[in-house]
Amino acid sequence: MGADISKRQSKAATLYSRALKVLPGGCSRNTILREPHPLYASHGEGCYITDVDGVKRIDFANNMASLIHGHAHPAVVAAVTEQVAKGSAYTMGTESEITYAEYLCSRNDAFEKMRFVNSGTEAVMACLKASRAFTGRSKIAKAEGSYHGLYDYAEVSQTAKPENWGDLNRPASVPVAYGTPQSTLDDVVVIPFNDPQRAIAILDQHTEDIACVLIDLLPHRIGVIPASSEFVRALHKWTQANNALLVFDEVITFRSNYGGAQEWYGVVPDLTAMGKLIGGGYPVGALAGKAEVMDVMNPLADRVLFPHSGTFSANPITTIAGLTSMELFDRTAVLRLNQLADYAKDSISEAIRIAGIPACVTGGGSMFRVHLKEEAPDSYRSAYVSPQEAKLMKLLFGYLADNGILMISTCSATLSTVMTKKEIDILTETLLDGLREIGPMMVNKKQI
Ligand SMILES: Cc1ncc(COP(=O)(O)O)c(C=O)c1O
Repeated sequence: MGADISKRQSKAATLYSRALKVLPGGCSRNTILREPHPLYASHGEGCYITDVDGVKRIDFANNMASLIHGHAHPAVVAAVTEQVAKGSAYTMGTESEITYAEYLCSRNDAFEKMRFVNSGTEAVMACLKASRAFTGRSKIAKAEGSYHGLYDYAEVSQTAKPENWGDLNRPASVPVAYGTPQSTLDDVVVIPFNDPQRAIAILDQHTEDIACVLIDLLPHRIGVIPASSEFVRALHKWTQANNALLVFDEVITFRSNYGGAQEWYGVVPDLTAMGKLIGGGYPVGALAGKAEVMDVMNPLADRVLFPHSGTFSANPITTIAGLTSMELFDRTAVLRLNQLADYAKDSISEAIRIAGIPACVTGGGSMFRVHLKEEAPDSYRSAYVSPQEAKLMKLLFGYLADNGILMISTCSATLSTVMTKKEIDILTETLLDGLREIGPMMVNKKQI
């Protein structure tokens, strides 16, 4: 789809050489990097994105799962354009902040009160701080390998590797950033995902100290495999029995159902972190939950347990874009998108079967991920991508990008409502060609 590669590389390469001089690694977010240089966007329209060299691709990355209606949805553009002319941020509240909070709370009974922030990282951070403030405890528990943004505590063990992840019965607290204080690591209890027995045994060693258990119900880095009901129920029971809070990170997964992935489980969390799609394409985060917990942020209380503010929090561009976008993402739209993802997973499984190589597809809701593994992973350790697999994955991702398909670099996809079976069929056909291309290298590992 589009211009020839040599021309494309020249413009992007020029931009990248400028970028390398002013941005560490030539970027502001590592997720856009690819070899020999990142792609640079010119514009997006619906489910298509065109780069600065004129190459058009189907966008399955959707700005890391945040563009639920693809690019520049006309209703969102109109609503935002009207607001931009009136100003983008004020040292005043806005009606749209209240209307949007009312609307999001109406989508899920667990959302009694909420607050807006500017990113998913901030939403998770605020959930953890609110949990500490509410319980008076310092530790948090999280699943090994789960990504929750950049907050020191939330990122522990996100990149744990075989050489440092330790015994499964007691996974190590592995820092992501150099210089992470030991005290932070000591305050994070790491549990294995979807392993209720081991997880509860670990939690039981910290009954007096854990403020909350933080869980993503369909964690990307753990292979886009849904949390089992047994696991979620066990964590819920444990938090209730031990006066700790249950926090769901639905920054990505809120797209999975009308009221979030949590609807799959019938378990009511104390707090939910959100982000991505609820911003309608603009920077956002939010946390919602039980009023008594959220009230640790109440500035009208005699003693404010968790003072909380943010310069751009609930800015009217985001709240108006978010409201417009989420109203369009109604129950019918959610169902249709999930069905399209089921169709995609079935088609991809068939493509893998035809290609005859050891690979599989996992997913839930409107997201899925292709693994170069014969068996679908069921844990972080089994989803772990070996250096060998990473090289092949890079080739597959590159093949797709060179042939009109933009995925997330782990070969994960998130769908947007403007997609149809046509785009899925193109993805499947291109993926089949890509798998055929890398297939021989999987047999003869020496080739890569
Ligand atoms: C599950 C989850 N939590 C939190 C975050 C952090 O969100 P943000 O990038 O908006 O800070 C992400 C981002 O990918 C995420 O996937």
